[in-house]
Amino acid sequence: MQIFQGQLDKNMEQMKGAYDRIEEMRELVQGDYYRLKYHIMPPAGLLNDPNGFIHIYGYYHLFYQFHPFDTKHGLKYWGHIRSKDLVHWEDLPIALAPVEEYETHGCYSGSAVNNQGIFTLIYTGNVKDRQGNRETYQCIATSKDGIQFEKCKRNPVMRNQPQGYTRHFRDPKVWRKDGSWYMVIGAQTMQGEGRVLLFQSDHLKNWTLIGEVAGSGIGGLGYFGYMWECPDMFELGGKDVLIACPQGLQPQGDLYNNKYQCGYFIGTLDYKTGRMEHHGFTELDRGFEFYAAQTTLDEKGRRILIAWMGLPEEEEHPTIEYGWIHAMTLPRVLVREGNKICQKPVEELKALRKNPVVYRNIMVEDEEIILSNIHGDVLELLVEFEVKDAKEFGIKLRCSEDGKERTIISYSLETKKVEFNRNHSGRGYKGIRRCSVKDREIIQFHIFMDTSSVEIFLNDGEEVFTGRIYPNKSSRGIRFYAVGGKAKIRKLEKWDL
Ligand code: FRU
Repeated sequence: MQIFQGQLDKNMEQMKGAYDRIEEMRELVQGDYYRLKYHIMPPAGLLNDPNGFIHIYGYYHLFYQFHPFDTKHGLKYWGHIRSKDLVHWEDLPIALAPVEEYETHGCYSGSAVNNQGIFTLIYTGNVKDRQGNRETYQCIATSKDGIQFEKCKRNPVMRNQPQGYTRHFRDPKVWRKDGSWYMVIGAQTMQGEGRVLLFQSDHLKNWTLIGEVAGSGIGGLGYFGYMWECPDMFELGGKDVLIACPQGLQPQGDLYNNKYQCGYFIGTLDYKTGRMEHHGFTELDRGFEFYAAQTTLDEKGRRILIAWMGLPEEEEHPTIEYGWIHAMTLPRVLVREGNKICQKPVEELKALRKNPVVYRNIMVEDEEIILSNIHGDVLELLVEFEVKDAKEFGIKLRCSEDGKERTIISYSLETKKVEFNRNHSGRGYKGIRRCSVKDREIIQFHIFMDTSSVEIFLNDGEEVFTGRIYPNKSSRGIRFYAVGGKAKIRKLEKWDL
């Protein structure tokens, strides 16, 4: 009992430091125009991976990697929020603070399960000794009310990694199947190849290695990165899907242009050997900031994904001047179409819509047009272009009066590619991302803009482009254009959000 009280005190102390810091930063953080209006953000400091995403006790719970004390990576806590509708989120007390000897350097990423009514978190305790050597422990915490979490007295439930692997071993994602618990975890072989490993357990407390699910140099892949982080494994439309974040891929044309990738494999997992027969790797998002995606199955039977709208080693966003950095993407529903996953914004987001404006059948020919009542910084825009003979057409968002500042999403008839260009978006990181889309007569752009983010769903979820942008507050124009011929805006709907 005494030990337990001691643990509680340590926890409280560590949490208090974090709350004091959040309080201290509140005014500065709130003063930032780039604070998002309908995305999940840290109250101060740094947010990274989504963790423990689960629908339980009537709420969607989401946790996040959280460093309250700085906008750089450091000692990680688990921030915690919940929502009834995936749109309005309520802040809850910090769920995990790094206080035990098995997590001295952070409570790293992990997942959540409903273990016969007990809300259970499984995460990685990150430890570095004085020489900087890493230790990696898998740990459990449980809750009865979904608010206060208690670390398991038997922690850690897994000590370090199996033989043949390095201590880059983290991010357990756990699920239940046929009366057993299974876990995928990110790993690295002694030869420096990224892997995902599969484990089995009866009660979550002892884990047995089954085998390697997928990785660099196996299952038909050539070299495919030195470490795979944040795996997720689930069934979608009768197939198995593995999500993973391989690190160390080289750019190949339009592919793998971000620092690290986050994508999926579709196939069949053999629960006996652990091996997955799979097709090739596909990036989940074609834009800039997107990483560590995590999914959950909700009570409506939907597979919902949320990702970090950020990237490791991207620490120079202008929001750091206001003491915070990064956010989550909008929640997306996953639907399998053959060997492809389509992603659609959850329909609950419609609750945010205000002031609808509708246009139909506007021909744009070698020109750039502005439409009345179509402008703003926090909005949803659904635009369907009918492909005619224009070589290129598209939309310029967040335009300044003189048009110099702009963020462009466009389609090229010649290359059949969609392009997202933030070279003139204002402050922050720059660049262009492109992706081929299926040849079609109608190109649909479904855009969610927030004060400093854009998410573009193409053709009903065929592809998604996500990125942070930092335009001037006064750059609120939207322009539609076609070059080298005609393109028709068949339908345009806009809402303030
Ligand atoms: C991915 C990651 C995870 C780790 C966590 C630490 O962004 O590096 O592998 O658990 O972040 O915050």
